[in-house]
Amino acid sequence: MSIASISVWIPKGGCGKSTVAINLAAAFSKRGATVSLVDLDPQSGSLIFASIAKRLNQALPFTVGRSVAPGANLVIYDHGPMMIEAVPGDIVVMPTLLDAASYSVFVPGTQRVQVWNKPLVAVPNRVNTSRQAHRKVIERFHPNTPFLRDRSIYNEAYARGQSIYDCALSGRKQAIAEMEAVTDRVEATLKTLFLCAAPMRAA
Ligand SMILES: Nc1ncnc2c1ncn2[C@@H]1O[C@H](COP(=O)(O)OP(=O)(O)OP(=O)(O)O)[C@@H](O)[C@H]1O
Ligand SMILES: [Mg+2]
Repeated sequence: MSIASISVWIPKGGCGKSTVAINLAAAFSKRGATVSLVDLDPQSGSLIFASIAKRLNQALPFTVGRSVAPGANLVIYDHGPMMIEAVPGDIVVMPTLLDAASYSVFVPGTQRVQVWNKPLVAVPNRVNTSRQAHRKVIERFHPNTPFLRDRSIYNEAYARGQSIYDCALSGRKQAIAEMEAVTDRVEATLKTLFLCAAPMRAA
């Protein structure tokens, strides 16, 4: 059985790595994957989420730990906010906020991913299209880049130990639609990578 893996990384804090990692884990579980969410951040955003879920008796459809769970066919790594030499994922998902400080870290982050020669899925996060500044930065991304709007549901769901898929909070439908668009892009990127890699593996 082949195991695909995703590193959710940007070398800046608070851009949504844990939020995206947790909700991608939920999205891919819904699509039939056996997901192991691996928390590589000493600040433990995903592990804290899992401990909240446990305390509140919320069953998660994926495992969360410090290492890959046996039997998983999809590993999602939730990274800390550091510039690093390498990431374990086959592809990198990079959430970024659109303020100048975040964007100026996002750009060298993407260059590092290029050096690694790994596919990148950029995810503009906490987007507010009523702000001209956000609209201007969004224009710098590839057209049709899926993005996540600024929505209170992410923090509220986290505090309940639930993904946006499993909660009953307002804004759920719209948030899921956005996360599904991100998940579609991530899935397509993984599929392209594994299709391209197949002949090399067979050789
Ligand atoms: N799309 C969004 N809309 C509103 N709030 C969001 C969104 N994405 C993330 N947040 C909130 O932003 C805060 C930071 O998100 P998160 O913890 O996922 O970032 P992080 O990159 O993992 O941070 P760290 O580098 O500290 O691990 C959290 O309170 C989270 O709920
Ligand atoms: Mg985090």
